[in-house]
Amino acid sequence: MKNIVILISGGGSNMAAIVRAAQQGDWAQQYGARVAAVISNKADAKGLQFAQEHGIATAVLDHKAFASREDFDAALAQQIDTHQPHLVVLAGFMRILTPGFVAHYAGRLLNIHPSLLPAFPGLHTHQRALDAGCKFAGCTVHQVTQELDVGPILEQAVVPVLPGDTADTLAARVLTQEHIIYPRAVLGFIKNKS
Ligand code: GAR
Repeated sequence: MKNIVILISGGGSNMAAIVRAAQQGDWAQQYGARVAAVISNKADAKGLQFAQEHGIATAVLDHKAFASREDFDAALAQQIDTHQPHLVVLAGFMRILTPGFVAHYAGRLLNIHPSLLPAFPGLHTHQRALDAGCKFAGCTVHQVTQELDVGPILEQAVVPVLPGDTADTLAARVLTQEHIIYPRAVLGFIKNKS
């Protein structure tokens, strides 16, 4: 079985979209793949409940309990590896990862970012797109490499910026597209790699 481990920090709507796609598309039967676990660095992440309700193992690893970023990432990798992951999916996981962690999962670590990369890496992407006067915005699924929000692009989706948009209205429009392209990218990865 190709195990997928998803990391979240909050709402987990992208994680939920992937779980729904996997269950509705019967990825287990069709492709021998399943979401094996959802891990959060925050105990109050809303997505944890959704995962539990869908029969998925969950775990919480509070980064504040660790002395250093390296210690946290080492413990996180240990937790992830108990599920023997084929793929690790960052879905609103709001942590900067150490080089060692990224190297450990090289070629099997995906992220979704709420901008049309390479535009607007980092935080506050929607406000920055508005401030720049962009007519279009969007989201990107990419392979994670050592540099933040840089790495081979797997999927992108574009939305218009509309008159009167705020960062929140634009974020909501982009998020609906994230829920389409992230499950598609994960399935593409599962299909292409044996
Ligand atoms: C999503 O918009 C995702 O693209 C973004 O956080 C949100 C998480 O929502 N990720 C980043 O900004 C990563 N730098 P979700 O928890 O509902 O999936």
